[in-house]
Amino acid sequence: MLVCRKIREIREFVRAERKNGKTIGFVPTMGYLHHGHQMLMREAKKECDVVVISIFVNPMQFGPNEDLDRYPRDFEKDHALAEEVGVDAVFYPPVEEMYPSGYTTYVDLNSLTDCLCGKSRPGHFRGVATVVTKLFNIVLPDKAFFGQKDAQQVLIIRRMAEDLNMPLEVVTVPIVREADGLAMSSRNVYLTPEQRSKAVILHKSLEAAAKAVEEGERDAQKIVCLVREMISSIPGALIDYVELRKYSDLSPADSMDGPSLLALAVRFGQTRLIDNTVLEV
Ligand code: PAJ
Repeated sequence: MLVCRKIREIREFVRAERKNGKTIGFVPTMGYLHHGHQMLMREAKKECDVVVISIFVNPMQFGPNEDLDRYPRDFEKDHALAEEVGVDAVFYPPVEEMYPSGYTTYVDLNSLTDCLCGKSRPGHFRGVATVVTKLFNIVLPDKAFFGQKDAQQVLIIRRMAEDLNMPLEVVTVPIVREADGLAMSSRNVYLTPEQRSKAVILHKSLEAAAKAVEEGERDAQKIVCLVREMISSIPGALIDYVELRKYSDLSPADSMDGPSLLALAVRFGQTRLIDNTVLEV
């Protein structure tokens, strides 16, 4: 597996593969890889001849009071996990390679970015859209793979790729969960054992909501209330948001008349976790 710290190196690798007629699958990550990331790589492996991943903790998508400095990093372990699933090349740039001095260009969406995580993390999706655009321009993949774990992020990337005529396909991969239902996340390592066991309430509450919908509930407020009550009953779980929105454009959904995204963010101490489910009627 090739490791490239320079844009020039990864470009050369991709150019040579493409010249040989190979298709390129790309999985952008911030590292501290887990089975969720590996699932994206496996999908990429299935659908493309060559798989490139990136590992870059993107400063631009972190707010001033967020966890940029303490974001977990372990390149050796990441290297082993990527190799395990047969990744061909890792792009692992230092910050100066991506944002040299004088850097001043941003990619901003006019909708989709102000609600849910965008509301609690102003500027976050501007940072995501900008770095993903840069990574797409560097790697020039045929297909790029994103996890449904970050449902709003995938909608934004899809919209951006379409709006800006990016010549690639965005593929969404389902959420990978721990045995007890907690969505896998690099941030789960921040949790104390007690917080870790309490955190299953996120998935449990989403399941309860899905069951209510299955049994005929269509009132958005009632569905959101059900989730909020379950989470609030856990001491130390602080709700950032619980919202039901139309899955198509993230506009508020008062009642469910089509696929809806039930999304939540909850803090345990300093650690903010997200989860979601798409409810179909
Ligand atoms: P990161 O949080 O490292 O996630 C990288 C990719 O893995 C994202 O597409 C995310 O949705 C997916 N992923 C994470 N946990 C998952 C899980 N449990 N199941 C399925 N997929 C999962 O998301 C980012 O990095 C960054 O914002 C990035 C897109 C790399 C831009 O910096």
